[in-house]
Amino acid sequence: MDNGATKEGGFSMKKIAIYPGSFDPVTNGHVDIAKRGLKIFDKIIVAILKNPVKDFLFTVEERTEMLEVSFKEFPDIKVEAFDGLLVDYAAKRKSNAILRGMRAVSDFEYEFQLALMNRRLNREIQTVFLMTSFRWIFTSSSIIKEAAHFGGDIEDMVPPIVNQKLKEKVGTV
Ligand code: PNS
Repeated sequence: MDNGATKEGGFSMKKIAIYPGSFDPVTNGHVDIAKRGLKIFDKIIVAILKNPVKDFLFTVEERTEMLEVSFKEFPDIKVEAFDGLLVDYAAKRKSNAILRGMRAVSDFEYEFQLALMNRRLNREIQTVFLMTSFRWIFTSSSIIKEAAHFGGDIEDMVPPIVNQKLKEKVGTV
């Protein structure tokens, strides 16, 4: 059986993780998780949910652009949009790992549900959680959008392009 071992006794198997989300918009917390994910995985595909049940502020094209700019110095991080089931998309990309960030306890129930459902749908795919860095523990796309909407300064919580695009969206430029 090919277990990825090389003649030298090392392992050569390249590991790709899918890092899925709405990314509406990407925050510094997301950027931190993807970069730290690269310490475990060889490649990360940041997968943007395309066909939402919920309304998004940014179009999929806008979210893609903001992510691509945020990760432009990381050739091993690729950005794509997906629709349909996440596990089907992961299988299509030949990945058996889903990367998710976890902030406070409040994230746990939803993440647990999502991970168990995904496992039920495809038992080959494992969900891996990274704890959000302490600095970003209270950062979320929705709270950032709300703050930006009311003119709050969110500059140090998002990549520069997101700060700019949010200002354009909420009309404070
Ligand atoms: O950033 P989010 O909104 O927490 O990300 C949620 C996401 C995109 C990971 C989740 O909604 C998802 O995977 N959607 C695709 C459909 C799917 O496979 N759902 C899970 C099993 S029902």
